[in-house]
Amino acid sequence: MTQQWKPICQVDDIPVLGARVVKRVDQPDVAVFRNSEDKIFALLDKCPHKGGPLSQGIVFGERVACPLHNWNIELGSGCAVAPDDGCTPKFSVKVEKGKVYLDVNELTALGLEAKAA
Ligand code: FES
Repeated sequence: MTQQWKPICQVDDIPVLGARVVKRVDQPDVAVFRNSEDKIFALLDKCPHKGGPLSQGIVFGERVACPLHNWNIELGSGCAVAPDDGCTPKFSVKVEKGKVYLDVNELTALGLEAKAA
C-alpha cells in the first residue's frame, strides 16, 4: 500500500512537553506529542495500563508520564518502561517544513481493538 500522509497541524500548534489530540470518528483518539527538542511522536491516546489519556501527561525526554498512575511510556515505541509492562499502538509521523503529518492508512486502521466500550 502506498503511504499517504495527512497534514495534522503545525509543530508550533503542539505545546512543548505536551500533546495535541487528533480525533477519529468512532475510534480512540491519537495523541501527538512534542518534546523539548521539538521531536514529534504519535501514540494512541490510551495508556497500556488502564487506558489513561496519555495526551494529558507530562512529556520528559522521549517519554510521557501517564496522568492516572504515572506509568512512564516510551514515545518512540508506545511501550511502558520496566517494571511496568505493556504497549499502546504508535503511529508513524512525518515532519516537513514545520508541519506534522500522520499516515492515512494507520489513522483508519490502527488501534481499533482498543475502542472504548
Ligand atoms: S492508566 Fe496509565 S498508569 Fe494507569
